[in-house]
Amino acid sequence: MEPVYLDHNASTPVDPEVLEAMRPYLAEHYGNPSSTHAYGKALRAAIERARGQVAQLIGSEPEEIVFTSGGTESNNLAIRGSVAARPQRRHLLTSVIEHPATLRPCALLQGRGYAVEHAAVDARGQVVAGEMAGLLRADTALVSLMHANGETGTVQPVQEVAVAARARGVLVHSDAAQSLGKIEVQVDQLGVDLLSIAGHKMYAPVGVGALYVRGGTAIEPLLAGAGHERGLRPGTENTAGIVGLGAACVIAGRVLAAESARQRDLRDLLWRRLASRVPGLALNGHAEQRLPNTLSVRFPAVSGNALLALCDGLAASTGSACHAACETPSAVITAMGIADRDALGTVRLSLGRASRRDAIEQAADQLAAAWNRLAGRG
Ligand SMILES: Cc1ncc(COP(=O)(O)O)c(C=O)c1O
Repeated sequence: MEPVYLDHNASTPVDPEVLEAMRPYLAEHYGNPSSTHAYGKALRAAIERARGQVAQLIGSEPEEIVFTSGGTESNNLAIRGSVAARPQRRHLLTSVIEHPATLRPCALLQGRGYAVEHAAVDARGQVVAGEMAGLLRADTALVSLMHANGETGTVQPVQEVAVAARARGVLVHSDAAQSLGKIEVQVDQLGVDLLSIAGHKMYAPVGVGALYVRGGTAIEPLLAGAGHERGLRPGTENTAGIVGLGAACVIAGRVLAAESARQRDLRDLLWRRLASRVPGLALNGHAEQRLPNTLSVRFPAVSGNALLALCDGLAASTGSACHAACETPSAVITAMGIADRDALGTVRLSLGRASRRDAIEQAADQLAAAWNRLAGRG
């Protein structure tokens, strides 16, 4: 039997409907979307249709969507590209819980003389909007605050921070790689200028993503090349991947309400079943303001990696890094004020569209049995 897959925040399977939408662009259509003959025009039409589908899901205009290779590239383009276009502003504001795809481009800019500040989070893994806004400066170029954290699922107060930032002429970027398709994401409601999308977190394939760039936002491309994607992302378009992302956005819009309610119920069942079998089990992150599919828990007195190693029938993750002789806890978990030793007991369980009740119960029972063995109770 296949292990129960509870690692959808790492990557989702490709939706069969997405695959079907992509198939003609792998098997039948070929050519270059920039060509003016019929072959090129067919690809161009498919790309523009997909652009409209992505825009529709986030409430933007189609021309505000730039296709990329995924979340990492979108974050790099947003952060490095927008800062390059505003050279007079030398300060960047982000948070301590961002993905490396945000932290590293910020660190790179810091190495080039920019001042970078990281807003802290509270015990539930949430930035305090007023505190973050208090770090804004007259020379802040950009605020980058993720919409939801992939490890804890905690949703961030992007809207509140954006109001303060935009009042001071500061651009706002949000990494929505983990939130799009799981909760409502509307660019105007969030008040963002830039928003990152990753295909493989929302049932499209790996290797495609998008960046929303609000009309009128100055931004420089990272790559030098031809004029694709309004000059922001040169390189012949990945038509099949783009079509897949468009189809994934249509599906997400259609199933979001029902799936988020269904997955929240299953996730809460998982939590109750685990908590009733593991005394001292603790929740990481915000109890309510959290992605409906995400459950991050700390098992007492054991290592999450050791625990998962005993669970052959379960695919999940810990966030901790394993080195030769020691384990390093996830910085996202310790940022909430949790001691390293306790943080190492973390296991993240992230549900998806294929998650079913019997598999959830089985996963809980496996984890509880493994914990009993490790903690010397069983
Ligand atoms: C919040 C967040 N941003 C960015 C990324 C990177 O996206 P990609 O793998 O598409 O480059 C991830 C992937 O884990 C993520 O969780």
